Amino acid sequence: MNEEFSKAMSSDAEAVTLALNEYLKSNPSLELCGIREAQRYSLLAGGKRIRPILCLAFCRLFGGRAEAAMPYAVALEMVHTASLIHDDLPAIDNDDLRRGVPTNHKKFGEATAILAADGLFMDAFALIARNGNVSPELTRAATELFSDAVGTRGLVGGEYVDVISEGKSISLDTLKKMHSMKTGALIRASVRLGVIAAGLSPDSPEMKDAEKYAENVGLAFQIVDDVLDITGTVEELGKEVRSDEREGKCTFLSYFTPEEALDYAERLTDEAVSAVSGYEGHEFLEQLARLLSKRRS
Ligand code: IPE
Ligand code: IPE
Ligand code: MG
Ligand code: MG
Ligand code: MG
Repeated sequence: MNEEFSKAMSSDAEAVTLALNEYLKSNPSLELCGIREAQRYSLLAGGKRIRPILCLAFCRLFGGRAEAAMPYAVALEMVHTASLIHDDLPAIDNDDLRRGVPTNHKKFGEATAILAADGLFMDAFALIARNGNVSPELTRAATELFSDAVGTRGLVGGEYVDVISEGKSISLDTLKKMHSMKTGALIRASVRLGVIAAGLSPDSPEMKDAEKYAENVGLAFQIVDDVLDITGTVEELGKEVRSDEREGKCTFLSYFTPEEALDYAERLTDEAVSAVSGYEGHEFLEQLARLLSKRRS
């Protein structure tokens, strides 16, 4: 990996963790310290910070300032982490390890884990609505697209399809739709929010290209996640392996060998890269897409 790229990645990830830390300092009240502790535990346990990094990168690509994108970046990581806390619950994927530590419900109990995640989901919306570096008109667009991405038509709906499809065989088209909702929607929102933070309208041609990038990176990301569930190790991933098989999940490996699935992810990555290759400064996004398709964690 190019040294300049890897430095830029670490610097973005560190800036996001710093901003999250800052946000978490605002303890609502003494009685609520416990729920904050549970939120802090999962948010600061690690994580690649891919969604915030995408948001910051698109803002930068289109000439925006990092201060405008940072509230969005923090909100994205909060929603993503909340979705992981719920995803790991016994009623959903029933996993005991996440980001290298016991899952939130293992550490704090199910009631606190559910509420800690609920809090993060909702608190994230306040960050989107309150971003003072973005015009009221674009704030309205940002709030709407974020809500669509997280809600029933996006992440939550996709998680629902995932759960009700356990032990069943679903068509490849349905599987792609499910992946597009449960994982793709938040990745698309990350990129869209970055474009909005740069002051561009949701109807701009830049937004169309950014969406094409996100669409392809999003699907490739979940395909690689499906593959790593079989080919990865607990040490590399910081989460349980073979969990999909155990839970009877339909994944890309229900249709393809790991090699075929990774080839498919590679082709999607090429598509993503071609969507932004005409923009000056696209190299970071190219390397990011390639890193995600080759990742081991
Ligand atoms: C895991 O996401 C869940 C999926 C959507 C596949 P990440 O692989 O981004 O998890 P962290 O944030 O690095 O822990
Ligand atoms: C999770 O997909 C997608 C979410 C919206 C959380 P997975 O269930 O495959 O994610 P991991 O493998 O547990 O990280
Ligand atoms: Mg799941
Ligand atoms: Mg899971
Ligand atoms: Mg998985």
